Amino acid sequence: MGVLRMGYIHIRVTDLDAAKKHYIDTLGFAPTLEVGRTVYLKGWDEWDHHSVVLEEGGVGVKKFGFKVESPDDIDIIENRARVFGVKTERMSRGDNPEVSEGLRITLPSTHVVEVYYEQTFVGNAVGSVNPESFPRHLAGIGAPRIDHALMVAEDVNANEKFFMDVMDFYQVERLVPDLDHTECSLATWLSVGNRGHDIAILGGPAGTDGKIHHFAFQLYGWSEVLRASDIMSMDDVQLDVGPTRHGITRGQTTYFFDPAGNRNEVFSDGYVAYRDRPTTLWTVDQLGKGIFYHKRQLNEEYTTVFT
Ligand SMILES: [Fe+2]
Repeated sequence: MGVLRMGYIHIRVTDLDAAKKHYIDTLGFAPTLEVGRTVYLKGWDEWDHHSVVLEEGGVGVKKFGFKVESPDDIDIIENRARVFGVKTERMSRGDNPEVSEGLRITLPSTHVVEVYYEQTFVGNAVGSVNPESFPRHLAGIGAPRIDHALMVAEDVNANEKFFMDVMDFYQVERLVPDLDHTECSLATWLSVGNRGHDIAILGGPAGTDGKIHHFAFQLYGWSEVLRASDIMSMDDVQLDVGPTRHGITRGQTTYFFDPAGNRNEVFSDGYVAYRDRPTTLWTVDQLGKGIFYHKRQLNEEYTTVFT
C-alpha cells in the first residue's frame, strides 16, 4: 500500500482575484487551469497538474487530495476505511479536473479527503533531462511545492488513528498532557514518507471540526525563509509570526495570511523522518517552546484563528 503524499489542497477564498495575486504573484505558484471562479495552481518543482485549488466563496478548506501509487491502493484504503467506520464514496475521473477516479472519505472531524492514483503529468519548470537548478524568472517567493497542512479536530486521536490505520501514516511527534498520559494526543505530527510531517492535527474546541490552522509551502534554508518574509512585506501580506524556528519538527518558518484570512506558512528544513523512529513527545507545559523555539510563547491569534 502506498500513499505518496498530500497531492493537493482545495481551499475557499472570498475574492478570487485577490487570492490569485497572493498565490501567483507573491508565492510564485503558476496557474494551470481556471474554470469559472476556481483556479488550479502548481509550484515550479511539482510534476502533476495542480497542488493548490482556490475556489471563490467563503474561507477554509474544502478538501485534501492524497496521491497513491496504484489503483489497487484505492481498494485497500476503501476496505480499511469501511472497517474503521468512516463514510466513503467512489469519485469519478473528472470530478476534479485532470484527476483520476478514486475515493472520497469523510474523516471523524468532517474533513473531506480524496484519494487518487493519477493526475495529468505536466512536468516541472526545469524539465527532467539535464535540468537547471531552478527557473531563472520566478515570480515573488517562487515556492517550489506545497509541504504539509495542519488540520483542526475536536477529537485528535480519532483522526490520528484514521491516518495511521487506514492511510499508513506513522507518528513523528505528539503533544501530550504530561508523561503519564502519552496516549492522549492534544496534537500530532504524522508522516507518510521522509518529511517530518505531511499532516498535523491540532485539537480544537467545539465547533472547529473541519477547519484548518494552516497549510505550508516548502522552501530551502533560512535565507529563503527570510527572503520570503521580505517579499511578503513588499506585497503588504499580513504576517502572523516569524521568521523563527519550531521546536517541534525543527522547521524554520514564517506564518502569514492570504487575503481571505487562510493562514499559510513557508517552511524549511526540519529533519528527515523514518518509519522506524520513536515518537518525539512534547508535554503541553512546553508547548510555547515547541511551536516557537526562541520566544517560547504562543500568541493568542495562533491558537484561536482557524478557517
Ligand atoms: Fe506547519
